[in-house]
Amino acid sequence: MMIKPIKLVLVVFLGVIIILNGVECRKARSLESFEYSAISCRGHSASILDYGGVGDGKTLNTKAFQTAVNHLSQYASDGGAQLFVPAGKWLAGTFNLTSHFTLYLQKDAILLASQDINSWPVVDPLPSYGHGRDAAGGRYISLIFGTNLTDVVITGENATIDGQGGLWWQQFHKKKLKYTRPYLIEIMHSDNIQISNLTLVNSPSWNVHPVYSSNIIIQGITILAPVTSPNTDGINPDSCTNTRIEDTYIVSGDDCIAIKSGWDEYGISYGMPTKQLIIRRLTCISPYSAAIALGSEMSGGIQDVRAEDITAIQTESGVRIKTAVGRGGYVKDIYVKGMNLHTMKWVFWMTGNYGSHADSHYDPNALPEIKGINYRDVVAENVTMAGRLEGISGDPFTGICISNVTIGMAKKAKKYPWACADVEGVAGGVVPTPCELLPDQGEEKLGMCDFPSDSLAIDSVALQKCSYGMKYF
Ligand SMILES: *[C@@H]1O[C@H](CO)[C@@H](O)[C@H](O)[C@H]1NC(C)=O
Ligand SMILES: *[C@@H]1O[C@H](CO)[C@@H](O)[C@H](O)[C@H]1NC(C)=O
Ligand SMILES: *[C@@H]1O[C@H](CO)[C@@H](O)[C@H](O)[C@H]1NC(C)=O
Ligand SMILES: *[C@@H]1O[C@H](CO)[C@@H](O)[C@H](O)[C@H]1NC(C)=O
Ligand SMILES: *[C@@H]1O[C@H](CO)[C@@H](O)[C@H](O)[C@H]1NC(C)=O
Ligand SMILES: *[C@@H]1O[C@H](CO)[C@@H](O)[C@H](O)[C@H]1NC(C)=O
Repeated sequence: MMIKPIKLVLVVFLGVIIILNGVECRKARSLESFEYSAISCRGHSASILDYGGVGDGKTLNTKAFQTAVNHLSQYASDGGAQLFVPAGKWLAGTFNLTSHFTLYLQKDAILLASQDINSWPVVDPLPSYGHGRDAAGGRYISLIFGTNLTDVVITGENATIDGQGGLWWQQFHKKKLKYTRPYLIEIMHSDNIQISNLTLVNSPSWNVHPVYSSNIIIQGITILAPVTSPNTDGINPDSCTNTRIEDTYIVSGDDCIAIKSGWDEYGISYGMPTKQLIIRRLTCISPYSAAIALGSEMSGGIQDVRAEDITAIQTESGVRIKTAVGRGGYVKDIYVKGMNLHTMKWVFWMTGNYGSHADSHYDPNALPEIKGINYRDVVAENVTMAGRLEGISGDPFTGICISNVTIGMAKKAKKYPWACADVEGVAGGVVPTPCELLPDQGEEKLGMCDFPSDSLAIDSVALQKCSYGMKYF
């Protein structure tokens, strides 16, 4: 007699589950369920489809993106929000991000930058540069832009952001641009940033530009642009503190990673250095530029850069320091360990006369200080010249250390593998024998150049597993 009511309850209960399942499954099918890693997970979710987005490659979605971000910004103090962009071709102009926000591009999503140049808003030049880079005045705002934010994630399943830069490159070559070209991603005055697992192609100019920001993780990024495209730098940390760039693959028309901190008198007066920067597992192809460049805009200073496991193929130079009289600032405590290089013009390159001034008002007495530059554990093949180290007369670059380096010269190598002027330092176990300004202490000093063993704060930032999926009750 007791069994019957229980059975009834069970049947009703199962019925409810089946009905709810039916509803939830239909809803879930459009978003699916998946996991990803991020500095923080979000309490609220939406799809660009909820805001009228159309992924047909033709419909302009600028408004859908901006409406979505503006709407989701209400959850900033309530667990944050994530915006999903499903597979499709999403044509869009520039839009701004918000705090406690994740932009997630699902597999096979392609964000296509609008080619209507006149529709790109123009913003002021960066205060630490005083001028735009392509033209003196303003700059076209970046495709994905954020300023004065905290806790922002831009990630995906290796989905693509396509800058469709061809038109911009053409306008640049024809000198027809009124303003400086846009970047693909620029994050300014912000803290706690993650940019990961995306493929960026054909940027109009630089690809990723964190500036005046801190606590930044950039991971698993592929950057592709024709090697002849103008100024398509890969990743440019600029006046940033505590940055970690890992597992990136970059083919571009300019430096794969360019570390910066402002230009001449504008950078000196802004006074914001780039420091505590880690670069690991970078692969670079850039026949006309460097795998890692420091400068040429370094007037706010660059200090404590740690680069490890760098591979470069058909790249002009491995690490290059670029500066000039009038820059002021400093480049110091630079550590590079483990480079594997194939087909290079110069493995090591330092240039004290780079020129390229913001304007004629730079201070000719503002000399850069280049000091404490450490390179170790380098193997290179097919190299035209081992090193070209040119400091500034009366302002030598000091504390240069190069150890455990084997450079195989190309058949058509220059007669003298090293050219040094206005530099001071030491070497240990370097082949071919370095110039007299870097006297070699011999094979037993292979480990002589420093690489810090302490860890930086950005290394202790752990990524969480975030999931999105269906919830039944
Ligand atoms: C990037 O993708 C890889 C492989 O799919 C995954 O293991 C990793 O957690 C992802 N990382 C981030 C930071 O999104
Ligand atoms: C995005 O931010 C920039 C700089 O703060 C601003 O000029 C622009 O109007 C913003 N765009 C939108 C659509 O809010
Ligand atoms: C953003 O932050 C910078 C630096 O703190 C500040 O100068 C600027 O006024 C802020 N901008 C906005 C729109 O809050
Ligand atoms: C991401 O996509 C790019 C371009 O399609 C490809 O070359 C790269 O191998 C992919 N990376 C991963 C981790 O799947
Ligand atoms: C010299 O560099 C190679 C890599 O090029 C590395 O395997 C080796 O451990 C280094 N030797 C010393 C003594 O640091
Ligand atoms: C060596 O470098 C030259 C360019 O300097 C290039 O033409 C040649 O193909 C390279 N050889 C190999 C074996 O990579």
